[in-house]
Amino acid sequence: MDHFHYRNRILHCEDVPVRQLADLYGTPLFVYSKATLLHHLGEIQKAFAEVDPLICYSIKTNGNLHLCRLLSEAGSGFDVTSGGELYRALNAGGSGDKIVFAGVGKTDSEIRYALENDVFLFNVESEAELHNLADVARGVGKAAGAALRVNPDLPPKTHAKTDTSVKGVKFGLDIDTVLDVAKGVVGNPHVRVVGLHMHLGSPILSAKPYQEGVAKGLILIDRLRDMGHPISVLNMGGGFGIHYRKREAQPASAFAEVIVPAVRKAKCRLVLEPGRFIVGNAGILVSRVLFLKESGGKQFLIQDAAMNDLIRPTLYDSFHRIWPAEPPEGLPAPPDDFEAEIPQTLKQDVVGPVCESGDFLAKDRCLPVLKRGDVLATFSAGAYGMAMSSNYNSRPRAAEVLVDGGRHRLIRRRETHEDLIRPELEV
Ligand code: LLP
Repeated sequence: MDHFHYRNRILHCEDVPVRQLADLYGTPLFVYSKATLLHHLGEIQKAFAEVDPLICYSIKTNGNLHLCRLLSEAGSGFDVTSGGELYRALNAGGSGDKIVFAGVGKTDSEIRYALENDVFLFNVESEAELHNLADVARGVGKAAGAALRVNPDLPPKTHAKTDTSVKGVKFGLDIDTVLDVAKGVVGNPHVRVVGLHMHLGSPILSAKPYQEGVAKGLILIDRLRDMGHPISVLNMGGGFGIHYRKREAQPASAFAEVIVPAVRKAKCRLVLEPGRFIVGNAGILVSRVLFLKESGGKQFLIQDAAMNDLIRPTLYDSFHRIWPAEPPEGLPAPPDDFEAEIPQTLKQDVVGPVCESGDFLAKDRCLPVLKRGDVLATFSAGAYGMAMSSNYNSRPRAAEVLVDGGRHRLIRRRETHEDLIRPELEV
């Protein structure tokens, strides 16, 4: 469910025509729907309500303060993975007791910063990190709460670059080493091992890996308790997939069905770290057509958004639906299937102005023949869009706008050329 829909052949975000936003704020532009954002957080809250989970929105997905503030006000905590993300989370109204801190390479100063803010749990990914955490906590006279992140060694389930629970990735403790590692800190007054964490990968379109992961987790929780660690938290991470193509994703309830019974059995507090599920379909990337070009037997649609705005297609071969905000007469608004042959369209590569052959948003995509100035929407761009954007080719980062019913407001201004060089002048 999202609030980007065609009304009388005109794409709206909630009640606002998208072209109007492009005219007002310029392009490339990220447009977010408040109702969609809160709806998806609500879906997870509802699906898991019976175990009263702590939902820690994974701020790496989209860290815009205004979006994070809405989520925080709606009850969400945060999953952070750097000092910068912690800073963002705190500035968005997050409080330490609802923040979990992940990542394989936390620095001492990041750990101290997190301890100062009394973060709920550090998700610990190696033996060396666990001992370092205890040392840093001792240095500041505190005891750090820790969840051991286990790599449950499951079959591949998503893109190789984002699968985090297969053998041989840098994440988590190998499942057969967790107990030995845990033994090493029994009785250590500066680290309290109170949780077990896993994040299986992203995006995951089936509940099966969670079922397999949680089963392995239950066994470990028993063993850790036998050893004297008072495990009271099971953190199942994020990873819930979304609709990028058609209706391929599972509802939150499908994941709840396999996770909730295990949480009850383990008598643990459940933590979840969803990112994409909450914000992915709450945002689109809006761009304008610059030129059409034919070369080497291929058609190119050159528009003003590029790989620096949305890197997912070139990095992961990701599919994003793309369609004009106001399609020409005779064309669907929008098509049912963006991957099928669509009458009155031409197969085109949707590319941007960046100087790389890998600068594309789509390849061989059926799209109408458009003209300069036409507005295009790239859907499902709310997650890992702006968050992974860069200034490559010295392109100022896009603006971001939030729509709420018939109202809209800028939530990040477009960067300027001055922004690009300022840190080099301030030396
Ligand atoms: N928790 C941890 C420890 C994570 O590493 C991640 C994502 C999440 C939660 C949130 O996962 P989500 O619910 O959003 O699937 N850039 C890639 C995705 C990388 C995911 C990194 N970790 C993409 O654009 O597909």
